[in-house]
Amino acid sequence: MIIIISSRGSASLGGGLVVSVRGERPPPPAAAAAAAALAPPPPPSAAMASPGLERALARRDGSSGLRLGQRWAGGTGCVVWDAALVLARFLEKAAEEEAAGPAGLPLRRKAALELGAGTGLVGLMAASLGANVTVTDLDEVQDLLKMNIENNRHLITGSIQAKVLKWGEEVSDFLPAPDYILMADCIYYEELLQRDFDLEKVPLEKHDEEYRSEDIHIFIIRKKKAIFPS
Ligand SMILES: C[S@@+](CC[C@H](N)C(=O)[O-])C[C@H]1O[C@@H](n2cnc3c(N)ncnc32)[C@H](O)[C@@H]1O
Repeated sequence: MIIIISSRGSASLGGGLVVSVRGERPPPPAAAAAAAALAPPPPPSAAMASPGLERALARRDGSSGLRLGQRWAGGTGCVVWDAALVLARFLEKAAEEEAAGPAGLPLRRKAALELGAGTGLVGLMAASLGANVTVTDLDEVQDLLKMNIENNRHLITGSIQAKVLKWGEEVSDFLPAPDYILMADCIYYEELLQRDFDLEKVPLEKHDEEYRSEDIHIFIIRKKKAIFPS
C-alpha cells in the first residue's frame, strides 16, 4: 500500500494508496517579501535556515510539537506550505483514530516515502507517529531537510532519513516499495492522476478541526488494477 500526498505535479512511483493534498501557497509575510527583494541572497552555507523564520506545529493536544526551519530565499521547498500543515495534522488525527479502532491510518512500523518533502514537515510527523520514513527532495533542499530532521529527532519514535530523489529518475534505491507514499503540494492536475489512479477524497470533517480549509483537499489514491481483455 502506498500513500501519496500532493497537489500539483506528477508522481510515477507505482501503485498503492495515495493521499493527496492541494493547497494554495501562503503569501510570504510582508517583511519577509521586502527583505527578500532588498537583500542579496545569503551564501548557501548561511542559508540553511533564516533566523526568525521558524514554523512550529503543536500537537493536537496542544503540547509542543515539530519546529521547522525555513529560508527567506530559495526554491519552493524552503517554506512550509499550508497543504503540509493540513496533511501533517490529518496524519496525527488518523493515527489517534487508528489507536482507538480500525478506522484510522496505521503508521507505526510502516515504511513511508515522502516526495517533494521541502522542509520535511509531513515526513517528520509520520516518523513521530512511529513510521520508518525516507523524506526526499531535490539536492538543493537537502541541507534544510537534514537540519530539520536533527532539530526534531527527539520526537521521532520510528525512523527518518533524507535522500535526493528527482521525479522521473531512477527509483531502484527506494525499493522495496514503501507502504505509503506521501506528498503535499506537489501534484497540480487532478485529471492526470485519474487515468492511472482511483481517487478517494477524504471528507473535510475527517481533517483536523483546526488545520483544515475548503481550499485544501486530501485524497487517498490507489493505483488502478490493470484490466486485460479476455
Ligand atoms: C510546493 S513545494 C511543497 C513542499 C512541501 N511538501 C510542503 O508542502 O511544504 C514542492 C516541492 O517539490 C519539490 N520538487 C519540485 N520539483 C521536483 C522534482 N522534479 N523532483 C523532486 N522534487 C521536486 C520542491 O523542491 C519542493 O520541495
